Amino acid sequence: MKIRAAVLEQFGEPLVVHELDLEGPRPGEALVRLRACGVCHTDMYTASGADPSGYAPTVLGHEGAGIVEAVGEDVRSLAPGDHVVTLFSPQCRECVHCLSPRTNLCLAIREQQNEGYLPDGTTRLSRERQPIRHFMGTSTFAEYTVMPEIALAKVAGEASFEAACLFACGLSTGLGAAMFTAQVQSGSTCVVFGAGLVGLGAVAGCRLQGAERIISVDLSQERLALARGQGATDCWRADGRVVERVLDETGGLGADYTFEATGLVAVMREALEAARMGWGLCTIVGVAGKGEMLEVVPRLLITGRRICGSSFGGVKGRDQVPELVQRYLGGEIDVAPLISHRMGLEDVNRAFELMHARDGIRSVLVMGS
Ligand SMILES: NC(=O)c1ccc[n+]([C@@H]2O[C@H](COP(=O)([O-])OP(=O)(O)OC[C@H]3O[C@@H](n4cnc5c(N)ncnc54)[C@H](O)[C@@H]3O)[C@@H](O)[C@H]2O)c1
Ligand SMILES: [Zn+2]
Ligand SMILES: [Zn+2]
Repeated sequence: MKIRAAVLEQFGEPLVVHELDLEGPRPGEALVRLRACGVCHTDMYTASGADPSGYAPTVLGHEGAGIVEAVGEDVRSLAPGDHVVTLFSPQCRECVHCLSPRTNLCLAIREQQNEGYLPDGTTRLSRERQPIRHFMGTSTFAEYTVMPEIALAKVAGEASFEAACLFACGLSTGLGAAMFTAQVQSGSTCVVFGAGLVGLGAVAGCRLQGAERIISVDLSQERLALARGQGATDCWRADGRVVERVLDETGGLGADYTFEATGLVAVMREALEAARMGWGLCTIVGVAGKGEMLEVVPRLLITGRRICGSSFGGVKGRDQVPELVQRYLGGEIDVAPLISHRMGLEDVNRAFELMHARDGIRSVLVMGS
């Protein structure tokens, strides 16, 4: 079939929306008609050419939500009409990692996905018979996509597509960092550095876990106000004195849980230093620039602080994204303030400009209706 999609033709150049060919689903795959897609930093990072593992041409986009239109042979967990959220982090439910509760990093299709292919090593996207690679296994800046069944989470039909798509990356990453990676205990004191979609999700996750005090730290007053709405009890401007202030306010000990959601190594260090001696857990969620290093004073670790990283918030996508969406539908997660701009697929480059200008939390592309 012919589809319209936003193609990264050349690194550093605007995306070009035009027609491509999309082949139907093969065994284990589904054809999804996309209805909404968030625009995330990873898309812009790849488009810029800064990511050494990036490739072009490709169709970017990974925060998608839509409706299953058709399924290939052997697909049992999905049927046409199902509402789905796309997963750049799949869940095969069979590999050694999927079978362990200790990680969400499914091993099933990593290599092919990283290279831009579907699990059988080919693409469904092409132009004039030349294959076009899939980005993050998702390629959701498009009217339709074909994806493996194991990378689609079936969610409640009552959720709007605009809200559901945020659970495909940033929001679930933040929520999950608090709920699944750190497993924040009720009554805790938490500090969340960064109040973008990921940090705001972490604030909401700490609240859902019953944290008593949630300190949100950011440079922007506007974002701190949004953090208040997600459940932050304290909102602090990042002024270089945050660690000192956390120690002052916790009897010199530090916070039970800290989260870093900025991607800056200097802030990662602050997050570790603000964690409590004895048992403080620092969770790193931000993605640092290529080649950057995190310096850690070992004494901080010996005296009981721990540091860990979190990919997609430790969320096992097919099982837990639907549960998070259910909590949103139950009124426990306030998604509306996180959608700052809505626009059509044709305006994807404007979404990048808004992100560059730090205007709003998320722009959502709305496809068809
Ligand atoms: N681990 C994962 O699976 C995963 C998934 C999605 C995104 N990410 C990463 O998470 C990070 C956050 O993503 P986002 O979409 O929320 O980004 P964002 O840019 O919207 O938010 C980052 C926030 O950090 C704030 N900030 C900058 N300097 C600061 C400082 N010194 N102290 C406190 N706050 C400061 C900024 O003002 C901004 O509000 C990025 O690095 C992104 O690449 C990771
Ligand atoms: Zn993302
Ligand atoms: Zn797996």
